[in-house]
Amino acid sequence: MQEVLDRLRAIKDEIQQTAIKDSGELEQYRIRFLGSKNVLKDIFSEMKNIPPAERKAFGEQVNEVKQLAESVYDQKKQELSGASKSGINKPDLTLPGDVIIPGSFHPVTLVRNQIVDLFARIGFTVATGPDIEDEWHNFTALNTPPDHPARDMTDTFYISVNPDVLLRSQTSTVQVRTMEQQKPPIRIVAPGRVYRNETISYKHHVYFHQLEGLYIDRRVSFADLKQTLYFFIKEFFGEDFNIRFRPSYFPFTEPSGELDIAHKSSTKWMEILGCGMVHPNVLNNCGIDSRAYSGFAFGLGIERLAMLKYGITDIRTLYDNDIRVLKQFTHA
Ligand code: DAH
Repeated sequence: MQEVLDRLRAIKDEIQQTAIKDSGELEQYRIRFLGSKNVLKDIFSEMKNIPPAERKAFGEQVNEVKQLAESVYDQKKQELSGASKSGINKPDLTLPGDVIIPGSFHPVTLVRNQIVDLFARIGFTVATGPDIEDEWHNFTALNTPPDHPARDMTDTFYISVNPDVLLRSQTSTVQVRTMEQQKPPIRIVAPGRVYRNETISYKHHVYFHQLEGLYIDRRVSFADLKQTLYFFIKEFFGEDFNIRFRPSYFPFTEPSGELDIAHKSSTKWMEILGCGMVHPNVLNNCGIDSRAYSGFAFGLGIERLAMLKYGITDIRTLYDNDIRVLKQFTHA
């Protein structure tokens, strides 16, 4: 009896110490401990020599070792298949590397940055203001009386009427905010998103981007305005364009103008921006003495410039977020 138990113990030790390196060794293990003539069967066959009272306990011990043999087998098998799999997945250092495609700036961002950089070269810094505004900054301070058509609810998105909260319809709001906070000389450009209740079409969207310019100092003249915009147009579009100023009307400038460009080979004038000398009422509304200071302002649509620059004919293309379109724009 003791001799059988010693053999069982030895088998258990052997199972526990098994080291299996490959599928050949695994098979040998299987044959030895789990095969049709496995070593445990020999032990079982000793059952008849065990005193009946101890047979049950003996049987349990043998079963335990058998289960151990099975679980070790399963475990080793799994380890081996994992190892062979990771062998397959070992990196092949001769393969070319993954191509990492970096994101690109949106065309509107590219054009905005380019315009900001151009004005930075002649001393303009960037100012910003909130998209959610009030009537004072969007209209009243800008010399836009309450009955002005631009105040019509169909143009401007009102969030609430009382208190008045709206989405700014123009970046001219930043003129007001800047003049309220800074003393002249002021030289800023203010790029930002604006909102209008428009029917979406190839040339209109409910939001788009503007860039506002403002220059306030003593003795600023219309000649300064013209020279500044000549510089901008030449740098942005190149030398091949003719430029003309056309009289216009904006409540916050007097006189007001619009700037058109046409390619030298063409007579087709395209409107680029609105501009003018800042209305004295606007200066006074913002706490700047209009007798001591004067200034000019201008506002342009960034999408419009991006479309002209890149030959885009439908503004909606810019906001479809179609990666095939967007990835074409990597630099200005
Ligand atoms: N705010 C005007 C608009 O949205 C554009 C504009 C015109 C801005 C003349 C100006 C300006 O600063 O002087 O249509």
